[in-house]
Amino acid sequence: MKVSDLVIAPSVLAADFANLQRDVEMLNQSAADWLHIDIMDGVFVPNISFGLPVTEAIRRHAQKPLDVHLMIVQPERYLEAFRRAGAEILTVHYEACPHLHRTVQQIKDLGAKAGVALNPHTPVNVLDDIIGDLDLVLIMSVNPGFGGQKFIERTYAKVRQVAQMIADSGSSAVIEIDGGVNQQNAPQLYEAGARALVAGSFVFNSPNPTTTISELKAISRT
Ligand code: DX5
Ligand code: ZN
Repeated sequence: MKVSDLVIAPSVLAADFANLQRDVEMLNQSAADWLHIDIMDGVFVPNISFGLPVTEAIRRHAQKPLDVHLMIVQPERYLEAFRRAGAEILTVHYEACPHLHRTVQQIKDLGAKAGVALNPHTPVNVLDDIIGDLDLVLIMSVNPGFGGQKFIERTYAKVRQVAQMIADSGSSAVIEIDGGVNQQNAPQLYEAGARALVAGSFVFNSPNPTTTISELKAISRT
């Protein structure tokens, strides 16, 4: 998938849910490229976030692509519904998909971009035989389920490995990082080959989220 030099995808999970329209409009006005939408089912991960009606509500106000991260079991059951709710990128977890190739094809048949996420313990080479079919590889830099966790340092090595796999295979997949991203680790992630950064608490808990997004976005230009 073709993207700008560095995509910033703020995670709506860290927004104020009672002021969702306000926060989505802030993202519209900011340098953010995508809106990252975290769907948690309380089964695949030990937390429940929100689902289809909230995603549709976000879609009604968002002027940027919805990057939907499905942290749910049997994601194939909900792909069509999330596509209809406005997802432009649909990312499923490797650990939740015994028939990953079929699931990826299903996403593409729906006209969406296909992403696969890897948990911190999952080695990247499990994607060897599917990397050519992917638009996005999401490397989890925390254990999925909660915002505000500490970045796992091992992530840099995984990013470099996936970047090498992409180069070797001629894949056009974009590497996205999710969890604990901040101004300190973002430059190293970019240098290792990441081209999309999700940031939740670092953006929304900062004094000026719009400025924080611009500062993250500027990393590729320094
Ligand atoms: C974690 C989610 C993340 C989360 C990131 O399970 O997938 O997208 O919102 O939040 P921060 O940036 O606070 O780690
Ligand atoms: Zn996420």
